[in-house]
Amino acid sequence: MEHVEKVIDEKKQGKPLLTDQKEGNNKKLFIESYGCQMNMNDSEIVASILAEQGFNTTGNIEEADLVLMNTCSIREKAEQTVRHRLQKYNHAKKHNPKMKVGVLGCMAERLKTKFLEEEKIVDLVVGPDAYRDLPNLVEEVEAGRDAINVILSKEETYADVSPVRLNSNGVSAFVSITRGCDNMCTFCVVPFTRGRERSRDPQSIISEIRSMQEKNYKEITLLGQNVDSYLWYGGGLKKDFKKASEMAKATAVDFAQLLDMCANEFPKMRFRFSTSNPQDMTLDVIHVMAKHRNICKYIHLPIQSGSNAMLKAMNRLHTREEYLELVKNIYEIIPEMHLSQDMIAGFCGETEEDHKDTLDLMEQVKYSFGFMFAYSERPGTLAAKKMEDDIPLDIKKRRLQEIINLQQDHSLFRAKEHVGKVQEVLIEGTSKKNANEWKGRNTQNTVVVFPKEHYKMGDFVNVKIEDCTSTTLKGTAVGYSDNN
Ligand code: SAH
Ligand code: F3S
Repeated sequence: MEHVEKVIDEKKQGKPLLTDQKEGNNKKLFIESYGCQMNMNDSEIVASILAEQGFNTTGNIEEADLVLMNTCSIREKAEQTVRHRLQKYNHAKKHNPKMKVGVLGCMAERLKTKFLEEEKIVDLVVGPDAYRDLPNLVEEVEAGRDAINVILSKEETYADVSPVRLNSNGVSAFVSITRGCDNMCTFCVVPFTRGRERSRDPQSIISEIRSMQEKNYKEITLLGQNVDSYLWYGGGLKKDFKKASEMAKATAVDFAQLLDMCANEFPKMRFRFSTSNPQDMTLDVIHVMAKHRNICKYIHLPIQSGSNAMLKAMNRLHTREEYLELVKNIYEIIPEMHLSQDMIAGFCGETEEDHKDTLDLMEQVKYSFGFMFAYSERPGTLAAKKMEDDIPLDIKKRRLQEIINLQQDHSLFRAKEHVGKVQEVLIEGTSKKNANEWKGRNTQNTVVVFPKEHYKMGDFVNVKIEDCTSTTLKGTAVGYSDNN
């Protein structure tokens, strides 16, 4: 199923990540990343920190001095993938006994020293807020000792680390704006593995985007677990804002303002953002989106379930009715907006009625994409502690399949809306299926393919959409868009 697993770019999952070689560096780093876009961006930060320590990236594990895996804990399956991959490392180590192995990211944070005990191959365990300590930790490991740092931070945003871009298409890139999450959805492990929510200095965000523009990047996705909650008031945790000085409060920057700043400062660049939690999304953001043609008309707006009982059990702090009201306002302000969802099938206590509420809500919203999952209990979460994972697997799977089937109908419905229109597409690469065709996305984030002709990577092109499947639009270029 195409949309089931949430990955930004499937090609990058579990593939060695490569970047330009820095002259004079003579150690070799093999790094791969699993899970969300944030992990991918963190791997770029890690590669940047280690480039200063003499490491260049390699795609050949058998010549690596250091092998790093950035791990994901979001569902049990994600952790199993990591465990299997570690077994493959065992094999590589037979041919390359000098290699040291480190695990980074959410699973490192969740398991801590257990990782060193359970997986003999692991020498190094580093949580998401401790990458700055890598030079010291790597030194420890090189001296033959195990090393670990899983301390979560209240301030760390890596604002001053300029990430090296890994496996980049040179056109679109991610810039992180917040770290951590304070929302405490009862099913979710992220608040435990990534810590409290903190925002990054807008000036450092703007200067990172400027350097991307100088390198000819054309599209930036602003990243956070919960971008709408972005709030800069001079540093510090979101939850401490109430205690800030009047001055700090008066000059604070929220997400709508940040988005407005970015769109004004870089009129030739296109902006996206992910992810939005409906409870924190304000209409100010939608009005800013309406004002700027360079902010894409697409929002990933997960709800997880269409049932009020489930939303309550999940600690999502809004009702189904409030969500539908938000969606109605969004479609009113920006009629061409497309929305996508995350859904969890078979959460604790979910009845057939609750499940029908989800299908009914989907009918009303008609999302253009979706990332859909069967509920997977995560150790340490409130749901694991207080609720019973009581929906049998076959029922979870059947409900999930019904959600996926309905989403496919809606994806096709939404794709058909584009047919016959001329849309601006940013060229991001060659189509997987046909080397003579370009691939890019329209403002609503739908993939568009069209014959290459004389156009090049990174061009903004107007494309007449002629045909579609549920996931891809097909068309013909009619000229450059005036954004070039
Ligand atoms: N705010 C985050 C959400 C991270 S988790 C973001 O940036 O996307 C991504 C999605 O994984 C969630 O929206 C949810 O649908 C799913 N998910 C999280 N925990 C889960 C669990 N325990 N079982 C199944 N799916 C889960
Ligand atoms: Fe997880 Fe909910 Fe935050 S899904 S990342 S706790 S918004």
